[in-house]
Amino acid sequence: MWGGRFAEGPSAIMREINASIPFDKALWRQDIAASKAHVAMLGAQAIVTAGDAQTIADGLDAVAAEYEANGVPEDWDLEDIHMTTESRLAELIGPVAGRLHTARSRNDQVATDFRLWVRETIDQTDAGLEALQRALVTQAGIHAGSIMPGFTHLQTAQPVTLGHHLMAYYEMLRRDRSRLADARVRMNESPLGSAALAGTGFPIDRDATSAALGFDRPTANSLDAVSDRDFALDYLMAVSQISLHLSRLAEEFIIWASQPFGFVRMADSLSTGSSIMPQKKNPDAAELVRGHAGRIIGAATSLMITMKGLPLAYSKDMQDDKPPVFEAASLIGLSIAAMTGMVADSTFKTERMRQAAELGYATATDLADWLVTQADIPFREAHHITGAAVKLAESKSIALDALSLVDLQAIDARIDERVFSALSVEASVAARASYGGTAPSQVSKQVAKARAALGLS
Ligand code: ARG
Repeated sequence: MWGGRFAEGPSAIMREINASIPFDKALWRQDIAASKAHVAMLGAQAIVTAGDAQTIADGLDAVAAEYEANGVPEDWDLEDIHMTTESRLAELIGPVAGRLHTARSRNDQVATDFRLWVRETIDQTDAGLEALQRALVTQAGIHAGSIMPGFTHLQTAQPVTLGHHLMAYYEMLRRDRSRLADARVRMNESPLGSAALAGTGFPIDRDATSAALGFDRPTANSLDAVSDRDFALDYLMAVSQISLHLSRLAEEFIIWASQPFGFVRMADSLSTGSSIMPQKKNPDAAELVRGHAGRIIGAATSLMITMKGLPLAYSKDMQDDKPPVFEAASLIGLSIAAMTGMVADSTFKTERMRQAAELGYATATDLADWLVTQADIPFREAHHITGAAVKLAESKSIALDALSLVDLQAIDARIDERVFSALSVEASVAARASYGGTAPSQVSKQVAKARAALGLS
């Protein structure tokens, strides 16, 4: 492509270190689409003749058909997808192929292709998250009243409902989806026509290519357009945060599936066995989701470090932008799919969860609240009285509501027999009907709202 200026060709090591075709061939559809938009514009602007524009467009279709049928050939001498396609085009239609690159550089070409790719991937990631949200609200609806222990510090805190717990993840994913949507709006500007860095002297129509490729408008500064990878970083940041959420959910499934907890039986289809211990059923899929979060966050970090300190405009370092994005996109796709299956196909052991909620004095706060509302005791004092009741129950190795009225009245004479109705786990969750609280009535409302937002009946 640039042989005119060179006395000798590249060394073997230069060919190898320079080649991005092994990974950027993933951009072939976007590259063909952007080239077709570009050549149609060149024809419309009479920068090339209408006949040449048509010949080139047909040739690009022929190259695309070959890629579709046989894959993209990997020739390191051709470096990247842009030169691979242009070279094959020239083989198919002859020297007229050389007119395609008028008023264009690989710098605006790759920035355009990559934006198109990331934009499509955002849509796929979002669709995956929507499917996971559907699985969550479905289980949350079934378990709006299933009681489990709620934890802080992984110590039993207060009873909650499983539906409420699952809906917490629905909320995280709702924010994740809005981050993706933000990123999509921000990135939807067309770099095409920025050329190498300074724009071009040809009378191009950037609005036309922008519209043809579904962008909202052309980018406003050619130097920025060819050296900006914010769109890829926005995606990686959003995906990193998604991976954090999935990793936390995966961690919960791992804990819940462990024998001492026994809150959930994971589907066989998402578990593995042990080659030595016949009883084992391991939550490998959940562990890999937890592990993949590290690689995804690593991808975001990798691209940030690549970009920091690069002077304007394009530097070859930027060729290293694609592997982390491709890797993160593939890992997040798998992780979302795995978690969707895990949520949809796990069996929650609700009786076991309910029993666990009764351990650990989960309703101690309810006793304190009862002392406040029924005996008009200030909360701090009620907290102290309740602490004494828990201490006594612990010394007798019994539950709070198994203490006798005599025992409770010895701690504070203002307690009467009505207290027992406040100490059950059912009463505890039912009482927490504040907006966004764990009461089954609240959870059902939140589930209904979420189902409507997801278009579920
Ligand atoms: N393969 C290159 C990349 O992915 C395309 C842009 C090359 N531009 C250049 N000036 N060498 O970044």
